[in-house]
Amino acid sequence: MTTSPLTLAPVTIAIDGPAAAGKGTLAKRVAEHYGLPYLDTGLLYRAVGKQVMLAGVDPDDEEGVGQVARKLEPGHLDDPTLRGHEAGELASRIAVHGRVREALVEFQRAFAARPEGAVLDGRDIGTVICPDADVKIFVTASAEVRARRRTDELIGHGRDVTYERILSEVRSRDERDSGRTVAPLRPAPDAHLLDTSELDIEAAFQAACAVIDQRLANLETR
Ligand code: DC
Repeated sequence: MTTSPLTLAPVTIAIDGPAAAGKGTLAKRVAEHYGLPYLDTGLLYRAVGKQVMLAGVDPDDEEGVGQVARKLEPGHLDDPTLRGHEAGELASRIAVHGRVREALVEFQRAFAARPEGAVLDGRDIGTVICPDADVKIFVTASAEVRARRRTDELIGHGRDVTYERILSEVRSRDERDSGRTVAPLRPAPDAHLLDTSELDIEAAFQAACAVIDQRLANLETR
């Protein structure tokens, strides 16, 4: 049994994890289940990457990319190509810059502070954006499992990719996201680790709800 959305006081739920761990799908379902608004923060970085490309700015030019990030508009997020694999790679490249991250902090914190509560997913939600989140879940899966899922998904979309190539991309994205100096990908000390290597979406959702319900019950009795 999971908590009924109707009985829920406003809560902030932070869901972080590496690429292709299934956190987006999970976060969306959690948000729906608990009746909370949802922000996919990866989309912000993806949109900055796209605008950087359109403006012909060098993704390694922190100052230039920071300027693009400061001019990001909500309309830039309505672009179906942002969900693609390449947009994710570019997002990971521009996300290493402190100026980019600074430009996006306020929007994310304002979303998290909504009076009705919120679910945010990303890389640094539990550590930097919402260190006081009521519930923090760090979703992982082995690089091999994530690469297999991503390969199947891309092949399903008619893309000509190999598991080996995707595995190597997953590993280098992990390295970049975890190795950067500003807001690296890592679990907050108080995050609950959820390894989905052996779980399907339904089982991962049930496990996440169990964590959230337990945490909410503890909050209520404080
Ligand atoms: O979650 P995603 O795959 O859409 O994220 C794409 C990239 O954006 C990710 O590899 C790193 C960056 N990102 C980040 O640095 N911080 C976040 N909170 C979300 C995404």
